Amino acid sequence: MIDLHCHLLPGVDDGPEDLKTSLQLARHAVAAGIRVSMVTPHMHAGRYENRAASIRAAAQAFQAELDAEGIALQIHSAAEVRLDHDVLAWVAEGHVPFLGAWQGERVMLLELPHSHVPVGADKLVEWLRKQGIRPMIAHPERNKDIMRSVDKLLPFVRLGCLLQVTAGAVAGAFGEAARARAADLLGRGWVTVLASDAHNLDARPPELEPGRAAAAVIVGEAESWNMVRHRPAEIIGMGA
Ligand SMILES: [Fe+2]
Repeated sequence: MIDLHCHLLPGVDDGPEDLKTSLQLARHAVAAGIRVSMVTPHMHAGRYENRAASIRAAAQAFQAELDAEGIALQIHSAAEVRLDHDVLAWVAEGHVPFLGAWQGERVMLLELPHSHVPVGADKLVEWLRKQGIRPMIAHPERNKDIMRSVDKLLPFVRLGCLLQVTAGAVAGAFGEAARARAADLLGRGWVTVLASDAHNLDARPPELEPGRAAAAVIVGEAESWNMVRHRPAEIIGMGA
C-alpha cells in the first residue's frame, strides 16, 4: 500500500522527535503492509517553517538511514500546507513541494484549520486552481464545521478539490462524528485516497488496513484498494 500523507521525518514538525522514533514508525508501517510513504511535514506559518528544499534534503537523509537499517520502505516527500495567506507567496516562490500530478495538474496537500472553515478559503482555492494546482483537502472528516454540515465542504468539491480521508477515522479511531462524516463522504463517492496521517505509534500510527477494510464495506473491495494503492500510485507517478 502507498501512504500519501504521514509525518515520519525526525524533528521537523509534531511527528517523531528523533531518528530512533522515526525508524520505529517506519518499521511499523512496513509491518502494516505499507511499501511507500509520502512524508508530508507541516508548512504552517509561524509554527513549522518547512520548505521544499529542506524537506527534500531531510527525506533523502531519512531514506539513507532506512536503507542502512534494511527497512524496506520507499520514501517520497511533499508537505501538508496550512491554508493561509502565506500560501500565495510560498507557491509563487516555489517553496511548496507537491504530492505529484492528477490529470495534468500539480497536487497540493492542503490543510484547513481543525476548528472551522475560514471565510475566503474558497477564494484561495480558486487562485490555486488558476495556477494549475489541484488541492487535495487533508482529513475533511476531522474539521469541526464539516463534521456538523457537509455543506461547508461543497465549495471545495465544486472547485475540483481532491479529498484525503484519514484511514483511522474510517475505522473509528477519531470518534463517532469523524467516523460518521468519513462514511458519508465515502458513500458520496467523493474520497480520492485514504492515508494514515501518522504522527506516532500510540494515537496516530502508520496504518491503512483497518480503514481500508472499513471503507470496503461502503465502497466495495476494488474501490477501497484504489484508495490505498492505485490512485496514490497514479498521483506520485508510479506503476501501481
Ligand atoms: Fe498531517
